[in-house]
Amino acid sequence: MSLTREPVEKEIPQVSFKDVSFSWPGGKENVISRCNFAIEETGLWMIVGKNGSGKSTFLKLINGIIKPNNGKVNSRANVGMVFQNPDHQILMPNCRSELLININQKISKKAISCKIKNVLDKVGLTGFETRPVHTLSGGQKQRLTIACALISDKNFILLDEPTALLDQTSQLKVVKTIQKLTSDKENPLTALWITHRYEELIYADAVAEMKNGNLSEWQKPSKFQNN
Ligand SMILES: Nc1ncnc2c1ncn2[C@@H]1O[C@H](COP(=O)(O)OP(=O)(O)O)[C@@H](O)[C@H]1O
Ligand SMILES: [Mg+2]
Repeated sequence: MSLTREPVEKEIPQVSFKDVSFSWPGGKENVISRCNFAIEETGLWMIVGKNGSGKSTFLKLINGIIKPNNGKVNSRANVGMVFQNPDHQILMPNCRSELLININQKISKKAISCKIKNVLDKVGLTGFETRPVHTLSGGQKQRLTIACALISDKNFILLDEPTALLDQTSQLKVVKTIQKLTSDKENPLTALWITHRYEELIYADAVAEMKNGNLSEWQKPSKFQNN
């Protein structure tokens, strides 16, 4: 009897920290200090914290760019990243070519076109295949980077202050795009969204606060309404 596995994009990612501490070389204090958390369900998880509180360092520990000084990082996930500035991330001149370099499967031309159309639809960029990247707004570029994560079958998307450079309308479209993808009935995505904007927390399924390298328990977004 052979074991059948779910396709990787359908597996629910499992990410957790056990007493993780980290200090940057030369830094005296821990940037992340005895941190515990777990994400073992799909949905939109948000971490809020002030500038310099350790949020980006925390993400680097999750995706393995840096290793903890103490404690254990468990990450069973196929991680895609969305950074603050899409211009630091997008490499190709138009939407189709950017998506093409992110496809990591050998599939037919027809299947490729179908996939491209499908992920552009999912991020609200229907018909943008041939659009030059320089003609996109900041929010459209962020949604293209999300489409790139989808087309490469990532099941866990880490977004590091993805709306920090956007106006309010674009900000809303990006957060609603992720909310839709993470609440999809058939194949919900898991996303961890980092922000310093308290007004974004209402879109989350759960929120934790980062303060001086310590992460709170997961809480309901309504807990943060008066901030
Ligand atoms: N590559 C690095 N080398 C040394 N120190 C760093 C590095 N990246 C961040 N830090 C320091 O770690 C602390 C937390 O930074 P960071 O994780 O970027 O916070 P946030 O993303 O919440 O603004 C800051 O004091 C910052 O100076
Ligand atoms: Mg940061």
